[in-house]
Amino acid sequence: MSRQTIVAANWKMNGNSDLVTEILSGLNEQRFSDNHQVVICPPAPYLAAVQSAITNSKIATGAQNINENEKGAYTGEISALMLKDLQVQYAILGHSERRAMFHDSSELVAEKVAYALASGLKPILCIGETEEEREAGETESRLTSQLAPVIAKVGIEKFKDVVVAYEPVWAIGTGKTASAEIAQQTHEFIRGYLASFDADVAQTVPLLYGGSVNAKNCEELFAQADIDGGLIGGASLKIEEFKKICQAV
Ligand code: 13P
Repeated sequence: MSRQTIVAANWKMNGNSDLVTEILSGLNEQRFSDNHQVVICPPAPYLAAVQSAITNSKIATGAQNINENEKGAYTGEISALMLKDLQVQYAILGHSERRAMFHDSSELVAEKVAYALASGLKPILCIGETEEEREAGETESRLTSQLAPVIAKVGIEKFKDVVVAYEPVWAIGTGKTASAEIAQQTHEFIRGYLASFDADVAQTVPLLYGGSVNAKNCEELFAQADIDGGLIGGASLKIEEFKKICQAV
């Protein structure tokens, strides 16, 4: 079956108004195939500007995080309902930087995924192992320990509206991409794990690879059977490079 392909840009805490103009004017003129989606995830202050600069129906916006509550006294936090109000469609949840620096446990990530889905946002659920975990042969147990609480919380049926991004922590911002072979093997494992809950749903879930993806290595990665696109950090801040990655899927 042909799954939706997605290239998502995670700007992290980078960018400014000029970058919004540059990236969107470069992307709006691109033509993407029918089943392809480009998602721009700028820092929250720029979401509205990105949203209103979009003129291409294949481009959507995403947040980089949400709070698991609807509203209230949570200074500095962002609610999924506010994002929906801005026509934002996606939210990156459980990024390894948030897990490592902002105490996003897998249980909290599960709550955020549940709340995003209940609010009509599509989660881009990030999972991935550290270098030590890979060397210790713990990659698979790490990935299932990140997925299981989410499946337990929302149910596997809801994964029809979830995108999973496999981002090995050792490949993020390091220039050390997983080889296409390692990435495919790991994606196959992830899909197999989802299939152990529901084989049909597992076939529909877009699995993105993230970690030092660039214009040179993207084609080989995206050619793999279980890699349905990418979650791009550094290279999403350079329009010519990002355009090439978007076209490579
Ligand atoms: P880099 O592409 O900069 O390695 O970042 C990957 C990432 O963390 C995307 O979420």
